[in-house]
Amino acid sequence: MDYKKYIKIVENWPKEGIQFKDITPLMDNGKAFKSAVDEIVEFAKEKEIDIIVGPEARGFIIGCPVSYALEIGFAPVRKEGKLPREVIKVDYGLEYGSNRLTIHKDAIKPGQRVLITDDLLATGGTIEATIKLVEELGGIVAGCAFLIELTYLDGREKLDGYDVLTLMQY
Ligand code: PRP
Repeated sequence: MDYKKYIKIVENWPKEGIQFKDITPLMDNGKAFKSAVDEIVEFAKEKEIDIIVGPEARGFIIGCPVSYALEIGFAPVRKEGKLPREVIKVDYGLEYGSNRLTIHKDAIKPGQRVLITDDLLATGGTIEATIKLVEELGGIVAGCAFLIELTYLDGREKLDGYDVLTLMQY
């Protein structure tokens, strides 16, 4: 399916010079959204995934329907202060400043095969941090799946050795 026709490009948002890729029209189209999720489900089946992990907030939107379809769990990765029980943390650099992501310490059992989902692969900072959390808990990152890849930001370089699926490239 040509998913790009459901992505709206918003100029200069959230700041000057950024071309934001809005996925909400794709989510708004039931057939297109289902088709995108189904592609990720098929990818996950090949990889014999035990659990899905997705970073806040749009990683939830992509990951939860995949976990539902496969009848497997979903573990959220969240910004600091959002998860109520014991967590492990990772810091990663942003263009300006840094960010901290967390996951519940018992979210993944050692040896579980994990698929990480998100809407967008840009610089790769978020996915790299999420991979660190999963691996620190003993999970095996068997795949990473995104709707969109911004190839000009070279996020894939951070994913060398991992199996990556992206449905659209810009
Ligand atoms: C966006 C996007 C990815 C991340 C990709 O999330 O949903 O998670 O950035 O960028 P990167 O590859 O350069 O790390 P954002 O940080 O805006 O958080 P949100 O989904 O909670 O709005």
